[in-house]
Amino acid sequence: MKITNCKVNHMDHPLGYAMEQPRFSWLIEDAGGSCMEAARIQVWEEGTLCHDSGMSENLDYMGYTAPIELEPRTRYTWQVTARTDLGEEAESGIHWFETGKMDEAWTGHWITCDRGSRMPVFQKRLPVSKEISRARLYICGLGLYEAYLTETEAQALHADSRIGKELFTPYCNNYKDWLQYQTYDITEALKTRPVLQVHLGVGWYMGRFGFFCPSDEDAYYGRNFRLMAEIHVDYADGSHEVFATDESWQVWRSNITFTNIYDGEHRDDTLPEVPLEPVQTVTESVPPLTDRYSVPVRVQEEVKPIALLHTPKKELVLDLGQNLTGTFRLGFFAPKGQEIRLQFGEVLQEDRFYNENLRSAKAEYRYISDGVQREISPAFTFYGYRYVKVEGIDNLHPEDFTALVVHSDMAQIGHLTTGNEKINRLISNAHWGLKGNFLDVPTDCPQRDERMGWTGDAQVFTPTALYFRDAYAFYRKYLHDLHTEQQALRGKVPNVVPSFGYHATACVWGDAATIMPWAVYQFTGDTAILREQYESMKAWVDYITRIDGENQGWKQVFHFGDWLALDHPDHRADQVLGGTDEGYIAYVYYGHSAGLVAEAAKVLGYQADAEHYRVLKEKIYASIRYEYFTPMGKCCVDTQTGLLLALKFGLAEHPNVVIRQLKKRFEQVGNKLQTGFVGTSMLCNTLTESGMERLAYDLLFNEEYPGWLYEINLGATTVWERWNSIGPDGKISSTGMNSLNHYSYGAVAEWIFRHCAGLSPVEPGFRKVRIAPIYDLRLGSAALIYQSAAGTYRVSWKLETARRVKLEVEVPFGCEAELKLYLAPESLCDGPVCLGPGKYSWTYRTTAPLKRVYTVDDKAWELLAAPETAPVLAEHGVTGQSIAPQHLMDSLRQCGGSPETLVTVEAVQAIEQALQAIAEAE
Ligand code: BGC
Repeated sequence: MKITNCKVNHMDHPLGYAMEQPRFSWLIEDAGGSCMEAARIQVWEEGTLCHDSGMSENLDYMGYTAPIELEPRTRYTWQVTARTDLGEEAESGIHWFETGKMDEAWTGHWITCDRGSRMPVFQKRLPVSKEISRARLYICGLGLYEAYLTETEAQALHADSRIGKELFTPYCNNYKDWLQYQTYDITEALKTRPVLQVHLGVGWYMGRFGFFCPSDEDAYYGRNFRLMAEIHVDYADGSHEVFATDESWQVWRSNITFTNIYDGEHRDDTLPEVPLEPVQTVTESVPPLTDRYSVPVRVQEEVKPIALLHTPKKELVLDLGQNLTGTFRLGFFAPKGQEIRLQFGEVLQEDRFYNENLRSAKAEYRYISDGVQREISPAFTFYGYRYVKVEGIDNLHPEDFTALVVHSDMAQIGHLTTGNEKINRLISNAHWGLKGNFLDVPTDCPQRDERMGWTGDAQVFTPTALYFRDAYAFYRKYLHDLHTEQQALRGKVPNVVPSFGYHATACVWGDAATIMPWAVYQFTGDTAILREQYESMKAWVDYITRIDGENQGWKQVFHFGDWLALDHPDHRADQVLGGTDEGYIAYVYYGHSAGLVAEAAKVLGYQADAEHYRVLKEKIYASIRYEYFTPMGKCCVDTQTGLLLALKFGLAEHPNVVIRQLKKRFEQVGNKLQTGFVGTSMLCNTLTESGMERLAYDLLFNEEYPGWLYEINLGATTVWERWNSIGPDGKISSTGMNSLNHYSYGAVAEWIFRHCAGLSPVEPGFRKVRIAPIYDLRLGSAALIYQSAAGTYRVSWKLETARRVKLEVEVPFGCEAELKLYLAPESLCDGPVCLGPGKYSWTYRTTAPLKRVYTVDDKAWELLAAPETAPVLAEHGVTGQSIAPQHLMDSLRQCGGSPETLVTVEAVQAIEQALQAIAEAE
């Protein structure tokens, strides 16, 4: 038996992170027993025991809060001992966490310098005099900073002397209300490199960004560089010294002449050195500094070009083979004075470089060479790209270029593959959508002049992200930031977080305030996220209640609704709104949010709130039923999304009536999806959970527009913003709003995890799960490894023949699974099976075929359209021309012998037999 995954607040060895109290979690592996019986946590403050829980049966391995009064700038070590029901016992290794400055006052002063035309580097020699035993740097630089320790003042800033391997510090948040500083352990570095140099860039804080900042001069949060740093040094002789930013620091200028997030960066290595200048101290007030919430952003992967293209326009274009987000490294030689320009784009058009869909974002890198062999890499910007147009380098070799994939640290915990290559590509595209849009903030897209934390996009993708990655700490920061925005807006949740001054709100987007913490809780099992976000969740629902007033005012304000759906009545190509009544959507989510607050209140033990919000939800849902349902149970919002919402949220009192409506809705459009941002995220899940799993699979496997595989067939390597982002001819459909890396529709991956591979949480954190994979012949197999908060699950199934399936399952220590064997003979299992920890396997012949079975009682149009049946009909002389359009909705049997069709009764009989044979074939 061993103890693994020891974390504090969901992090390995957190240094300087915001925490009121430490929350410990761990896992037990390789144990003979089946559950943990007792555990003990011991914590030492700088070596002295400060907490011992004693061996207790009440410690939860998913989150135990130790009641310790934390001290600032203090290192704590801890160890867990656990015992199983068989009496086995093990100790973990010794782990640590360290607090930041917490509420301690800063001795340093904010310093600044003139904006100037080159990025500043602040510098100070730290006069350390004695043997160092511990040194820490506490630092925040605005807009963005990179800190270095060098041996001498004259030494160039080089990656080797960089402190921490993080990019884009101090990260992106609502800088109006709070600023994050970071903590670094510089003990070793400071022993030999006493000169601290801090390079600043403009970033999100001072550069143009968002909707209201057309130029750097209009930057919403700030106009001036700022730096605050404190260096605390403990000497071996027990003494302590603090160095901090003040007017004794100096500033010089780097060769970066321009940088911002959207437009890229310019560097000129021919510029002369600038003499050191004094800094100024900041006199105006600066928002408070907070221990960090943001997890590190780092280079996570490197990708090499797959080709160097010479386009018909004589351009040199590198193809990375993958649409990705990050920076790059490029080694080359160019003569002195030579300008090199790199431009980044997502797609080629007419075999040429193209970047018009980035709108006003220049997304370029410009460099003027000093005639020295160099390796260049931007410091304060990033790009969303697959193609790079390179100008100014003779003898460009693709191997000299490396794409650096950049995103926040989040361990991959979900690994899923299937027997279908196109579906594997789709899973990979959804995952790349995550990797490309989790750069400190969950963004809509990484390339154009937007890249913002749109709450709606973040909300619909949260479960998918939590299947792929351990994103607790990432979301904790985003949700904390969301709450800080709400505080100035009386509970309103801005559509983007951080808002950059754009304060409008809308349903589904603002409902991120309730839906996201709840999803994080469901996936991680940690109630801490609910406790931290509870006021935010409540404030959002109370805000809606205020706007709603006596006259349903919430329905009357603007809502994005089923954004980008394909069923708006005017059918305009550039229409962004969908066909589903926005007031209905707003009310469904209002009720849902109220219900989630009630659930959270229940978990946290706030009984009165739980009752208040439960009653509110019931009231809202009653009013929806009154307004939008007929007395016989029909839903009047007769769109795919309208009906899906009715089923998903249990609004339909007669679900069968709504299911019939929904099936008809699909049939009328040839079983194609028409859903937008709201409907798509729930589409396949809700169909499956309402007994229409074959339709869900049909939508997944549809290769025509609109559908996921349509994109794959056109070579997509990420998920597109619009179903028609690119036409069948390869032409981009519009430039106004057309990103090729928008993760929202990638939320279908949640359904693949949940229902195709078949693993979903029943109790928060996957302590108890449901394992119920739904097989499909086209998928062939699915294999999932999921390292949940409760332990590692494995589910895999494979079709050995068209009807014979082998299912293997592994349930981790301490966990329980409800198993539902799909289409299993009664002899194998009648009713749900409950599994404890262990490995299991079943092989059986399913009671029905694992594909859609067609008969002549199906509608004629469907039999004529389906690739499995169309050739059978043709063989018996039945084609599109044989049946008048008004009879296409009749069944083929009804068409047989009818005077208005050319289909004979004999043909129908022959087709019936042929279809039967197909159904039974294995
Ligand atoms: C973004 C979206 C966002 C939307 C609001 C767009 O510009 O890219 O993904 O949710 O606006 O409807």
